Amino acid sequence: MKRIDTILEMKKEIKKVKEQGKSIGFVPTMGFLHQGHESLIKKAKGTCDCVVVSIFVNPTQFGPGEDYEDYPRDLDRDLNICEKDGVDFVFAPSVKEMYPKGYNTFVNVEEITDILCGEKRPGHFRGVATVVTKFFNIIKPDFAFFGEKDYQQLIVIKQMVKDLNMDVNIVGCPIIREKDGLAKSSRNKYLNKEEREAATILYKALQKGKQLIGLKAYSISEIKERLEKYISSEPKAKIDYIEILNADTLEIPKSLDEKLIIALAVKIGKTRLIDNCIIGG
Ligand code: PAJ
Repeated sequence: MKRIDTILEMKKEIKKVKEQGKSIGFVPTMGFLHQGHESLIKKAKGTCDCVVVSIFVNPTQFGPGEDYEDYPRDLDRDLNICEKDGVDFVFAPSVKEMYPKGYNTFVNVEEITDILCGEKRPGHFRGVATVVTKFFNIIKPDFAFFGEKDYQQLIVIKQMVKDLNMDVNIVGCPIIREKDGLAKSSRNKYLNKEEREAATILYKALQKGKQLIGLKAYSISEIKERLEKYISSEPKAKIDYIEILNADTLEIPKSLDEKLIIALAVKIGKTRLIDNCIIGG
């Protein structure tokens, strides 16, 4: 495995890989890797000849007052995990390398970024779309792997790739969870013991929502109301949003028979967690 810090060197290595006629699988991450990230790496290994993982805490996707500075980082540990998982290249550039002085270009995916996390975190998806575009231009992957954990991000990237005619296949991968259902996340590290316990409310609420949708006895607004009440019964939880939408378009569904997503963002103490589940379709 080779660790690379500069765009120039990464491009040189990619050129060599392409000349060998090998396919490239790309897994973008912000590091502090866990089994969720590793599931994407494994999928990439199974799909492509050469696997590139980026580790970059991207400042442009964090808003003022968010956790950019505090975001957990442990590059040595991440490199060991990548090595163990058979990654070929880890691309870990500095902020200066990615956004040098005078940097002035951003990618903006419209409309679908006006809701959910896009509404609650203005500018977040502009930062994500920009950094992912830069990575795609540097790494030129045939396939790129994204988790359904960040479902709106996956939809935004698919829209961007389609609209900008990018030559990359976007592969969505299922959510990896802890035994008690909590979705694996680098941000789970922020939770103390009591908060970690309280955080299971997200998964429990999704299960409850799924069950209520299955009954076909309640309207979407009634189900949302019930889930709101349920999550609010956990004193440490503060709801950022609860939405039930069409899973393909992220539009308001006309019926409960459509492929639906229940999407949640909930603060447990100071830690904002997101989770979702897909139903039907
Ligand atoms: P990060 O939060 O590090 O996540 C990297 C990738 O891992 C994303 O595609 C995310 O959906 C996936 N992932 C995280 N937790 C997961 C889980 N429990 N199960 C399955 N997949 C999971 O998402 C980002 O970084 C950044 O926004 C990035 C795309 C790298 C751009 O900066």
